Amino acid sequence: MARYLITSALPYINGIKHLGNLAGSMLPADVHARFRRLQGHEVLFVCATDEHGTPAELAAREAGMSVRDYCQLQHDIQRQAGTGFHLSFDWFGRSSSPQNYALTQHFAQMLEDNGLLEERVTAQVYCVDDARFLPDRYVEGTCPKCGYVDARGDQCDNCGTLLDPTQLLHPRSKISGSTNIEVRDTAHLFLRQPLMAEKIRAWVDQAQDWPHLARSIAYKWLDEGLQDRAITRDLVWGVPVLKDGKVRPGFENKVFYVWFDAPIEYIAATQEWADATGGDWKRWWRTDGGAKDVSYVQFMGKDNVAFHTVSFPVTILGSGEPWKLVDRLKAFNWVTWYGGKFSTSQKRGIFMDQALELLSGDYWRWYLMANAPESSDAAFTLEGFQATVNSDLANVLGNFVNRILKFTDAKFDGQVPAQGVAGEAEAKLWADVSVKIAAITAYHDEMEFRKAAAETRALWALGNEYLQMAAPWTAIKTDFTLAALGVRTGLNLVALFAILAGPFVPEAAARILDGLGVPESKRMWPKADDAGLLDALPHGLQIQVPELLFAKIEDDQVAAWKLQFGGGG
Ligand code: 2FM
Ligand code: ZN
Repeated sequence: MARYLITSALPYINGIKHLGNLAGSMLPADVHARFRRLQGHEVLFVCATDEHGTPAELAAREAGMSVRDYCQLQHDIQRQAGTGFHLSFDWFGRSSSPQNYALTQHFAQMLEDNGLLEERVTAQVYCVDDARFLPDRYVEGTCPKCGYVDARGDQCDNCGTLLDPTQLLHPRSKISGSTNIEVRDTAHLFLRQPLMAEKIRAWVDQAQDWPHLARSIAYKWLDEGLQDRAITRDLVWGVPVLKDGKVRPGFENKVFYVWFDAPIEYIAATQEWADATGGDWKRWWRTDGGAKDVSYVQFMGKDNVAFHTVSFPVTILGSGEPWKLVDRLKAFNWVTWYGGKFSTSQKRGIFMDQALELLSGDYWRWYLMANAPESSDAAFTLEGFQATVNSDLANVLGNFVNRILKFTDAKFDGQVPAQGVAGEAEAKLWADVSVKIAAITAYHDEMEFRKAAAETRALWALGNEYLQMAAPWTAIKTDFTLAALGVRTGLNLVALFAILAGPFVPEAAARILDGLGVPESKRMWPKADDAGLLDALPHGLQIQVPELLFAKIEDDQVAAWKLQFGGGG
């Protein structure tokens, strides 16, 4: 048994996430966590809301709420949506927790002690009418590169250029619209990343387990040369900047930059978990506290990779303390909405809460993972969703389970039949199934979600082929024993399918296994060389037929959803 620490990139607090966000980190992280648990490993799966920064402040302002209240409300909404999607977090924390304040301040202190922080005077955009500095998204204006008039202080959404607020032409305040703007000097803390460049490169060099996408992004940053990075901002909501336990002089109206404290929350969320449950966070995060044998896996969208392979490791390694670093990292491209961007304001795309109002979590989970944006972006279309759900879940898996369970109920008093001895057909079936189990396991192990889903689907198809051939409904008219063998084998396939599909469709899997009366202790990931699996259910065991597992999605539903969510337009 091994130990897996699994984290998903922390969703921003500013509003419920869309299906693309879900598919790019939280969902695959959950699938992997479930896979590892089924294998019998010890897993700690942690996530949290990312609550600081200008987007949070701006969203709260727009909602007419205090940032504190806004974050509490949105955290609860996101937590509830996560539950609806069966995200099996051991802890879903908050980056605004006291634990994260303390840990962020601790890291800053260590970095300062190690000569990696420097206070510097910088020129910042100041709005005279608002009587404050305007960091990042608080200022908008014309992009100096492409002339786009609505560029934000941190980035131009038109040409993608990363900007400093002082670069904007014709700047205006996002708070008041005022153009009475000056550039003024003020102090900020800088993290001297170049001093850590060699250590980071050596660490990336040894990270052979990272996928190509992650390594190439890390090397791109390293090759371009690391820059000193400002880690404070002129904001009030966030982690206060201290010196010797008190607010650092000159930093009264400043806090740490959101990207400095957010990844630290992975650790702090584990401390929140430990404080709430009596768990031992050091066992997961401190190599001097038992975390040496932990395998740490991170999930994220590709835009987050540099922060996780370079910036956060600078913080961790720069502290000089024995913290656990990431071992494996899985990054995703984007899920698009019909090839374009999901957009709340333009009502394009489905958000997590809306999805759950239409159908339960499993439907979405399956489609999103079967089409995971792994080697390129993947378009979410309602037509694709309908086709995938109807063929894979309703026709192949759902029908198989339903057919065999109903037949058992009708002809075998709902009991696993004992008669019949496995013959050539079952031997051939096992040979095929065993190959599939090995492939599914390998793909989950490699975190190749699309391929794992494809092999899972192929396994279901094998089961259907066997049942077509064994045809117990025909056999029963002439050969009861043969029919019994077909039914028993079919029932055992159902149990196998449920366990192997569990990481993707946990709700359906649990309903199937409940119906088959499989105890929790037996819900373990199958071994590809365990031929006994085709006859594992106790003979005579009483089964229950679950209610319809997956309903088909009808054309008129798709048409209505397209209108509601702006499909294809
Ligand atoms: O890109 C995002 O959605 C960020 N909120 C991810 C943060 S991940 C971590 F480092 F906190
Ligand atoms: Zn631009």
